[in-house]
Amino acid sequence: MTEAQRQTNHGGTIIATARALGVGVNELIDMSSNLSPLGMAPGLMELLGGSLSQIGHLPEIDNQGLQGAFAQHFGCHESEVLAGNGNTDFIFALPQLVSCQRAVIVQPTYNDYDLACQRQGVAVGYFHLRVEDDFVLNLDEFAEHLRPGDLVFICNPNNPTGHLLNTTRLHDFIAQHGQCIFVVDESYLPFTTEPSLVSKTRLANLFILCSSSKIYGIPGLRLGFLVAQDTVLQPMKEQMRPWCVNRLAQVAGEYLFDHADGYIAQVLHYLASAKPGFITALQATGSIQVVPGATNFILCSFSSEQYDALWLQEEMLKARIMVRNCVNFNGLDSSYFRLSLQHPQDNAHFLAQLTQIMA
Ligand SMILES: Cc1ncc(COP(=O)(O)O)c(C=O)c1O
Repeated sequence: MTEAQRQTNHGGTIIATARALGVGVNELIDMSSNLSPLGMAPGLMELLGGSLSQIGHLPEIDNQGLQGAFAQHFGCHESEVLAGNGNTDFIFALPQLVSCQRAVIVQPTYNDYDLACQRQGVAVGYFHLRVEDDFVLNLDEFAEHLRPGDLVFICNPNNPTGHLLNTTRLHDFIAQHGQCIFVVDESYLPFTTEPSLVSKTRLANLFILCSSSKIYGIPGLRLGFLVAQDTVLQPMKEQMRPWCVNRLAQVAGEYLFDHADGYIAQVLHYLASAKPGFITALQATGSIQVVPGATNFILCSFSSEQYDALWLQEEMLKARIMVRNCVNFNGLDSSYFRLSLQHPQDNAHFLAQLTQIMA
């Protein structure tokens, strides 16, 4: 794998995988992308179906309605919210727009922070989490690594480890390090009961990324939000491309913020009931270790050299199940893979296949 391939390799390549296998996407079980296990939020498909004629109009140019709906739902001010074509828009824009001495990235974490910084020629310093600490980010230790002028990326909870930091502790930490600028990616926070940093006071050195892709199961629509202090956000608003969110994504967002709280509660309830048994079954193989995490996805590793993640990926594809090998995460080796919980019957199918191929 080349360095470019390593960095741009993502989970959830279901369309390309289906094409390569010559099957329909509905014939695949995708445990490789960390989407809601309950699929799309109820009512959304019908709403979008009935809204198709709206693609005959331009979207609202500056996303005012959408940003207003987000602000109302999350209890912040519209002037503190910027909508984009997924969090990815902001991950790649921030290293370009924020002036910094260097970026600091925890490893292992989501690769796009690194890629975005490299594309902008921003020097990157890495902070390596340790397997013996279950990849927990110790903020006191982290503090010693930071210098004034750093642009610091924190994924909370972290992809792929699932480790969750306490929001109040993190907010205090960011407030104490006013000479660094922090980007906190909360893409997976709605899968936990921890409150968002959006609920705390705004800090001049904090950008919060809130994705709609994962929790609402709509990664193909491309919808994400950046929340920051209004004076900090204003220059970014001026730099955004016109019509950067398509009309169907605007319609979806406005609907979801008003209608999907019950659905999120159901997702949390489902995870609380399904995850422990699934982990026990993985551990019962005797050759899989599980990293303790707070999310809908689970980082695992083979404890026996007899198996590795690429082998698992290939074997599972024969059963039309996609798993994420974590070989391209800096700090993880080929024993690591990540599984995203799905519907009970799909989880059971995966476990049955696993038992069979490990026998
Ligand atoms: C940590 C993290 N942030 C951001 C993204 C991308 O989010 P979006 O779909 O909103 O662009 C992903 C997608 O996998 C992710 O894992």
